[in-house]
Amino acid sequence: MQTLRTTSLEIRDNQLWILDQQALPQQKNWLPAHDVVQLVDHIHALRVRGAPLIGLSASLLLALLAEQGMAQAALAEALEVLRAARPTAVNLMNNLDRMKVALAHPDFVSALTHEALRLVEEDKQLCDNIARAGSALVKPGSQLLTHCNTGGLATAGVGTALGVIAHAHQQGKVKNVWVDETRPLLQGGRLTAWELGELGIPYHLITDSMAASLMARGVVDAIWFGADRIAANGDVANKIGTYSLAVLAQYHGVPFYVAAPHTTLDRLCPNGDAIPIEQRAASEVTGVAGSFGSVQWAPENAAVYNPAFDVTPAALISGWVLDTGVVTPEQVKEGIFQVR
Ligand code: MRU
Repeated sequence: MQTLRTTSLEIRDNQLWILDQQALPQQKNWLPAHDVVQLVDHIHALRVRGAPLIGLSASLLLALLAEQGMAQAALAEALEVLRAARPTAVNLMNNLDRMKVALAHPDFVSALTHEALRLVEEDKQLCDNIARAGSALVKPGSQLLTHCNTGGLATAGVGTALGVIAHAHQQGKVKNVWVDETRPLLQGGRLTAWELGELGIPYHLITDSMAASLMARGVVDAIWFGADRIAANGDVANKIGTYSLAVLAQYHGVPFYVAAPHTTLDRLCPNGDAIPIEQRAASEVTGVAGSFGSVQWAPENAAVYNPAFDVTPAALISGWVLDTGVVTPEQVKEGIFQVR
């Protein structure tokens, strides 16, 4: 396969490499993701993370394995193992559905390569379209709040919600970004803060519990976040903590926008209750681990509840900013996301 490089994926010497998103920003380690076991392990550990990136990494690996001579039946098995790597982000399933069609082709090796590279190119385009559509909603002098990480690290392009913010910043409209640190795994504190710094966008890092007081002070003009799955009724699954921001935004009259590619839409999923929510290890809540080492503060054997995502009901969302344009609450109520 041709050499390829995005912010956090690389194809080099016909092998897949990933930028370890757990070590950032202290260390920039490119790790091998040369087989299914390695990639699934990276996805479980969130070294590869973000809804679009998970789907793209799985698709690229499948194409590379085909090029290396893996048989069609073994590729079909590999595809199913990759599909089960994480349950909530539907981009993984949507991308692999397309790879499955390519796998059925008589010349499946070239079909898989072609499809995987097309998914990467499309994702860049989707991000650009989202950034353009979303930035039109950003008012000059805005202070925007964002949660988790939705930038170039999580996609093949400029990102989703963070792509909107970056585009609006290029247009001179962003005064400041409030970055939720995003407990428990700190995607905001580690990744979004780093990406904003690299882009030269002014930001302040806050702990998640500080968002309410900022909204009360009137210094949050809009909230922008990404999605792991959008159900047919417009409910959105995203990083844990998004729902509490939505409730706060409603109370304070702050616009609440989701930015996502159409590959995050699940028209067959009727509503948020039907979205599978990943539960993660207790150790993520009882302490913290990273490139600096690890520390535990909770008592040994503390009982823990640790869902990776929550669901924000459609009624709390001001607009769904997709690559196809901005979808309004009225359009969602009329069923624009339902199977047509
Ligand atoms: O657990 P993560 O870090 O993969 O969660 C990521 C998110 O929730 C993002 O907001 C979402 O995937 C959109 S990324 C463009």
